Amino acid sequence: MRSTGDLVIRRAAAADRRLVQSLLSQARWRHFHLDWRDPIDLLDREPNLLAFLGDRLVAHLAAPPDPPGAAWLRSFCVDAALTPLSTWRPLWAEAAASCTAHDVLRVASLLSGDWMRPLLTEAGFRETNAVVFFEWRRQPMPEPPPNPATPRRLTSRDLPDVVRVDERAFGLLWRNGVESLAAAMQQSIVATGIEVDGRLVGYQLTTASPFGAHLARLAVDPDHQGRGLATTLVIDLTRRLAARGFDAVTLNTQADNVRSQDLYRRLGFRETGQRYPVFETTLAP
Ligand SMILES: CC(C)(COP(=O)(O)OP(=O)(O)OC[C@H]1O[C@@H](n2cnc3c(N)ncnc32)[C@H](O)[C@@H]1OP(=O)(O)O)[C@@H](O)C(=O)NCCC(=O)NCCS
Repeated sequence: MRSTGDLVIRRAAAADRRLVQSLLSQARWRHFHLDWRDPIDLLDREPNLLAFLGDRLVAHLAAPPDPPGAAWLRSFCVDAALTPLSTWRPLWAEAAASCTAHDVLRVASLLSGDWMRPLLTEAGFRETNAVVFFEWRRQPMPEPPPNPATPRRLTSRDLPDVVRVDERAFGLLWRNGVESLAAAMQQSIVATGIEVDGRLVGYQLTTASPFGAHLARLAVDPDHQGRGLATTLVIDLTRRLAARGFDAVTLNTQADNVRSQDLYRRLGFRETGQRYPVFETTLAP
C-alpha cells in the first residue's frame, strides 16, 4: 500500500470484484481495451491497481501482460471526484515499475478519448499506429482461389495450433496469448482453420456483434502466406455467415497493416472511418 497525497494506492485482488465493478460501470472517465476478456476477470493479474480517497475507490488501472513481454492498458477508470491526471500519475508510476519488474518493456494503449492524450504523452507514450475499422455488406465476393485446402471448423483441441499460428503471424504487441485466444474461440460463432499437409497454417475467429458478425481474428503462418489461404478463409466465412442469416461483417486491423487492408478491400470490405489511435512506450529495463 502506498500513499501519494490524499490518495492511497494498493494492488487489486479477486475479493475487490464488486467494488471495482461498481467503479467500472459508473466512472466519469473510462478507458477499456478492445478485449476478449472483461477487466473484472483479471483482477489478480499485475499490474492491477486501485486508488482510494479515504475509503472510497476512485480509480482503477490494469495493464497485465498478454502475451508475455508486452502489455496493453486494459482499464483506466476515474471517478468524477478527481481529474484523470491526478490519479494517472501515481497509478502509472506504480504500474510501470511493476511492468519492468516483470520484464514487460513494451506497453501500448488505445486512445479511447482525447482526455487520454495528455496523460499518455506526459508518460512518454508516442502515437505509433491506429486501429482502423472495415465493414462488408454483401458486396460481391470473388470466387475462391484454386487451392486444395478447404477450411474446416475448429474445436478447442485446435487451441495450441491456433496459438502457434498467431505467434508466428503477428508482431509482439498484436499477438494474443493462450488465454485470450481460448476466450476468443469460446465466443466465436464461426471458428475455422485451414490445413496444409495435415498441419493448421491459418485460422479465423468470428463473433456476433450488435451490427452483425465481427471477424475478430485472421492469421496465416508466414511460410504459407501469399497463396490465397486468407482469401479462401474469408470467402468461406461469408458463405457460412450467409447461411446463418448474417449479411454484414465488421473487422478491424492496424493502419500500417497494408497487406491485410489490401486483402479486405479486394474482398469488398470498405473502411468505415472509425479509428482508435495507438500509443506506445518502451520502458527502461
Ligand atoms: C493478412 C494475412 C492474413 C493475409 O494472408 P494470406 O494467406 O497471405 O492472404 P492471401 O494469400 O489470401 O492474399 C494475400 C496476397 O496473396 C495473393 N494471392 C491470392 N491468391 C493467391 C494464389 N493462389 N497464389 C499466390 N498468391 C495469391 C493475393 O493477391 C494477395 O496479394 P497482395 O500481396 O498483392 O495483396 C497474413 O498476411 C497474416 O496472417 N498477416 C499477419 C496477421 C494479420 O495481419 N492479420 C489480419 C489483420 S488483424
